Amino acid sequence: MKKIVLSGIQPSGSLTLGNYVGAVRNWSLLQSDETYCYYCVADMHAITVRQDPVELRRRSFETAALLLAAGIDPNRSTLFIQSQVPQHAQLAWALCCNTYMGELSRMTQFKDKSASKSDENINAGLFTYPVLMAADILIYQSDYVPVGVDQKQHLELARDIAVRFNNAFGEVFKVPEPYIPRVGAKIMSLQNPEKKMSKSDPNPNGFVAIMDEPDVIMKKFKRAVTDSESLIAYREDKLGVSNLLTIYATIKEKSIDEAVKDFEGMGYGNLKVVVAEAVIEELSPIQTAYKQYLANPDYINEVLEKGRKQAETAAQKTLNAVYEKIGF
Ligand code: TYM
Repeated sequence: MKKIVLSGIQPSGSLTLGNYVGAVRNWSLLQSDETYCYYCVADMHAITVRQDPVELRRRSFETAALLLAAGIDPNRSTLFIQSQVPQHAQLAWALCCNTYMGELSRMTQFKDKSASKSDENINAGLFTYPVLMAADILIYQSDYVPVGVDQKQHLELARDIAVRFNNAFGEVFKVPEPYIPRVGAKIMSLQNPEKKMSKSDPNPNGFVAIMDEPDVIMKKFKRAVTDSESLIAYREDKLGVSNLLTIYATIKEKSIDEAVKDFEGMGYGNLKVVVAEAVIEELSPIQTAYKQYLANPDYINEVLEKGRKQAETAAQKTLNAVYEKIGF
């Protein structure tokens, strides 16, 4: 029996180096003879923030192209757009009725996102978002969910919901495990290393977009905030330097200790250049492939249509079992 892997990504904004190192890179690496993977473009999650419809559709499509470019193989994985598989929303409702307000109120992402808004601007979708995410995961009977550390709490909730539902109605769901990389699960902003690198950062120098041109990537790294000590070490009080070392170590598939050794005797100027070069080298084939995929939209549509069908078949099976259990 192959292990089932599932993950998703929102098509809002340009995907960043954080998305890549923390999640997408592992999505690609997890494809093997022992796994079967479902990867979705989470457009239903994206509308918790108002989106321009034309722009959202375009970004969902482009995100699918970028995932292909980053190595998602449609012969080994099901790549699809979340809203095209209505079973996710159907399961989400059944799960909503088995999730407590108190649990959702404790989600730090909800607290952070709602703190910056006035009450009338906090929509109910922003609050119930983790339940939809639980539905995404549980509907495929997933074993592993590769995510960055910011999604860990949502995953724990998905596990709690699965266990609660199984206890109340009988075994329906597999209880999934998070797959969070030991190094690289939280890439920090280049401008403020206390903050997560985020595509919604108003300061574009804080994040590297996967599609940034090489000279832009170099410039952003050269401007990266470090400290005044001038010592290349991985330490809690050296967040900026540690972040650069983390990026380098993950991309080069080295341990942090090996990464630190590579920079022995160098100054921050060199560190920034070498890390930028590693990132440029890693992203360049993805950028080329992305442009090739986008030039062939028929192929992407074909992949997504095949993905929709495969996802729908698997999702319907779980939904039928759930409907049977709850008395529909
Ligand atoms: P999203 O779209 O915000 O991010 C996609 C993935 O990228 C990871 N990530 C990071 N990892 C390391 N460092 C960073 N700075 C960084 N920023 C983002 C995220 O942890 C995530 O793995 N709700 C999810 C999407 C989703 C999903 C799912 C994930 C929808 N359904 C089901 C897993 C399973 C989200 O908003 O991710």
